[in-house]
Amino acid sequence: MQKKRHGRSERLAEKWKHNYKKHRELNRRIKEVGHDILSSPNFRSTKQHIQHGNITVNAHCLSVARYSLALSRKLGVVCSEDELIRGALLHDYFLYDWHEKDEINPHRLHGFYHPGRALGNASKEYELTPIEMEIIRKHMWPLTPVPPMCREAWIVTMADKWCSLMETLHIHKGHGATVVESEKPKQEKKEK
Ligand SMILES: [Fe+2]
Ligand SMILES: [Fe+2]
Repeated sequence: MQKKRHGRSERLAEKWKHNYKKHRELNRRIKEVGHDILSSPNFRSTKQHIQHGNITVNAHCLSVARYSLALSRKLGVVCSEDELIRGALLHDYFLYDWHEKDEINPHRLHGFYHPGRALGNASKEYELTPIEMEIIRKHMWPLTPVPPMCREAWIVTMADKWCSLMETLHIHKGHGATVVESEKPKQEKKEK
């Protein structure tokens, strides 16, 4: 009995080790491909906005990039990993807090219009490829009428839905919004 229990804990430890290594490798690849995006002030500012549950937009986008990469490798889908990662990182680059409603921005139709907003913001800062544009523009399908037209966009669309569900059900947990020092509003800095 003791031996059996020992064998089980060894298998669990092995599995945990394997998953940890996989997670690290996915993160390494994301950093390699998206280092300019990850270190930009605007992308860092998404740490101040909650996406679902207590996960920030920043953590959500990283999570979608990781799941997209893992899914494409698991299914053996031939696709451009670089564009997949960069598109996933920028897919929710709308740069506002969609929970903060006011008269000018009620964000009632956020689900429908934020892909266009994200695409506009991302295009101003990065030279996007047609695949990256397709990923950002179509990731909310079927809320947006036209389905994705490339493999990369299909993968990100699926990974985004999975991550959103896990975050909404609080299965994926985060630390809530964090205020990045350099992104604090200027007014707030002056008051100090
Ligand atoms: Fe989105
Ligand atoms: Fe998303």
